[in-house]
Amino acid sequence: MEQPPFRAVFGARAHFLPEVGSGFRNGKCGTIKGTGHSPDSIGTGYALTCMDDFAIFWEWFSFGVRWLHVVTAIAWIGSSFYFIALDLGLVHRPHLPEGASGEEWQVHGGGFYHIQKYMVAPATLPEHLTWFKWESYGTWLSGFTMLAVVYYAGADLFLIDRNVLDIPAWAGILLSMASIGIGWIAYDLLCKSPLGRSTTGLMLVLFVILVAMAWGYTQVFTGRAAMLHMGAFTATIMTANVFFIIIPNQKIVVADLLAGRAPDPKYGVIAKQRSLHNNYLTLPVIFFMLSTHYPLAFATQYNWIIAGLIFLIGVVIRHYFNTRHARKGSPHWTWAVAALLFILIMWLSSGPRILSGQTGELVSDAALPFLQSDKFMAVNDIVQGRCSMCHASEPFWEGINEAPKNVLLDTEQGVASHAYQIYVQAGITHAMPPGNVSFIEDDERAMIVDWYRSSLADAGRIL
Ligand code: HEC
Repeated sequence: MEQPPFRAVFGARAHFLPEVGSGFRNGKCGTIKGTGHSPDSIGTGYALTCMDDFAIFWEWFSFGVRWLHVVTAIAWIGSSFYFIALDLGLVHRPHLPEGASGEEWQVHGGGFYHIQKYMVAPATLPEHLTWFKWESYGTWLSGFTMLAVVYYAGADLFLIDRNVLDIPAWAGILLSMASIGIGWIAYDLLCKSPLGRSTTGLMLVLFVILVAMAWGYTQVFTGRAAMLHMGAFTATIMTANVFFIIIPNQKIVVADLLAGRAPDPKYGVIAKQRSLHNNYLTLPVIFFMLSTHYPLAFATQYNWIIAGLIFLIGVVIRHYFNTRHARKGSPHWTWAVAALLFILIMWLSSGPRILSGQTGELVSDAALPFLQSDKFMAVNDIVQGRCSMCHASEPFWEGINEAPKNVLLDTEQGVASHAYQIYVQAGITHAMPPGNVSFIEDDERAMIVDWYRSSLADAGRIL
């Protein structure tokens, strides 16, 4: 059977990880036998995990990258918001030094700051110059790593739905990367075209392109991946603006200053336009990144319309703050518009759902070994008995109205497709069922672990 490239790299077992599980019952990780209380077991009587389990490394790697991504994104967006507000709030005063176009006084953390902006450049280059670029680059690099960890390595579950478009994992990954790369090129050409001179015209065309992209993504990927790709597509434009336009233009200005030439103001003007786009795109990007945790946003047929409305909400909210920071009053109507659009989104999300893992649907190649395992029927019974009251297309557990996280476990297809997640959430950890409300037994967890590991081993995979 063909394997996604990433999986093939590591071979059958991750032997490079330290072995700390030798104290377990029979000295073998993951083979759980016996019913009594074992002296060397953990917690409730069973040792379900050990360090040579690739899933443990993988879960932590994924958590670590996510942590980094959130931190860098906070730093980038934080500094970006700060500079936009600072820029808009600058006041022109007569006593300003030559070349300075505005200044602002700020108070923070026990001191007063006096900032002056030199529109093209100061007459001489200061000795210390602080650049702001790694916040942005770090966010993109960690974000791309996460895209690879979640959507490329887990392409069969999260990127591709064979019922949307039946393509192999590698083709989906290629499409994902190509769309992101081509998106930047198209955007950049557009900005450099004659249309680029009209701020509003450019924004309108961009909006149409973004909505078309959102629709396109839903024709190729899972709803979840479509929304995430809208975030990745937009965020790549933002970082590329910093990397290819804003910073290089500033470097040209610095080089001119050092060489004693008068810098051309056009570099600043171009950088400013890109910076403005970044400002308006920030809020939608954050929405798209978070939306993957909310099936109501992505598991609906109208998800691409929702994506379009989110761009509008992002623009009106930024408009509110931009106007305030420029001390031009508070356009409160923007909040009414944002709220109305948000209500419209709620209404749209109650329309037709995209449900995956339905009976009779195709499962991915990656899910097949779990379905074909001779332990599958037993595990399926456990999952139906302990999980499907909540994880169903129509849950009957009080207070659960939607399948949580769109994880549907009420069909064989659903169980096989979510093998890894079932293993992590109910096998090696006790995260599910929440508070063990459905009284799953320890030996049932052990059977899940055994099923997952033996299916992988039979298929010669580690993930
Ligand atoms: C009482 C209802 C209920 C039962 C029973 C239940 N779950 Fe869940 N499950 C939830 C909720 C609620 C969430 C969302 C948790 C969150 O938002 O972090 C969830 C989330 C999940 C997720 C997604 C986790 C993530 O962060 O991506 C998986 C996988 C999962 N459950 C598997 C299972 C399995 C396997 C069982 C049975 C052994 C099970 N659940 C039983 C309610 C339930």
